[in-house]
Amino acid sequence: MKRRPLPAGNWKMHTTVAEAEELAREIVGSDIPADRDVMLAPPFTALSAVGAILSGTSALLGSQNVCWEEKGAFTGEISPPMLKDVGCSMAIIGHSERRQIFAENDTMINKRIVGAMQHGLVAVLCIGETLEERETDKTFSVLEEQLAGGLTGIELKNADQLVIAYEPVWAIGTGKTATVEQAQEVHAFLRDRLTRMYEKNIASQIRILYGGSVNPNNVDELMSQDDVDGALVGGAALKAETFARIINFK
Ligand code: PGA
Repeated sequence: MKRRPLPAGNWKMHTTVAEAEELAREIVGSDIPADRDVMLAPPFTALSAVGAILSGTSALLGSQNVCWEEKGAFTGEISPPMLKDVGCSMAIIGHSERRQIFAENDTMINKRIVGAMQHGLVAVLCIGETLEERETDKTFSVLEEQLAGGLTGIELKNADQLVIAYEPVWAIGTGKTATVEQAQEVHAFLRDRLTRMYEKNIASQIRILYGGSVNPNNVDELMSQDDVDGALVGGAALKAETFARIINFK
């Protein structure tokens, strides 16, 4: 069975509420082919407003992070029920900016995934190697560790509960994209590792997104690869026109 493609926009720390509303309106107003899912992940402050715009459309609302606790003294964090309350169905977890700038490690990321899944949020686990790791031939060991660390103790009933996003750190926001061969090689490797962790019919249906300087000029070629099931897009997701083109990859 073919996996349903998932182009996703990670707006990072961009947009006021008004800007987010405008962008979301433009995106849902563009043609979204019926054979794919689209996720938008605005900043926390705009989730509620964007959620209202997406409600009743096919587009999905995602958060850029999520806490493992339901409530309590966790200053600066947002809980799964709070995210569900504003219409989120997905949560990005373990983005390289969280790992590198905010020192999140695999143990913490694993807790976030557990918390998200307990409340029925789809976890989008981001993993990726740095340039130094790639140049010293550590890419596959780093990815294996991040995948296994993030998914420790996670059982899946179906493939839709989890999405993996492979985002080489050296390709994020740099204009450098992995070659399609590099992306496919890693995606196939991750698929193989997932097959060792989960039943084959589940592992074969988990979507693996590529992220890192995806734009209208490279999306078609990336999406043509067997194991590339979508894109996690930063910069190019902030303009409706470019993101609409990415959604409509050929
Ligand atoms: P980019 O970001 O598309 O701007 O490289 C991707 C991401 O960090 O998810």
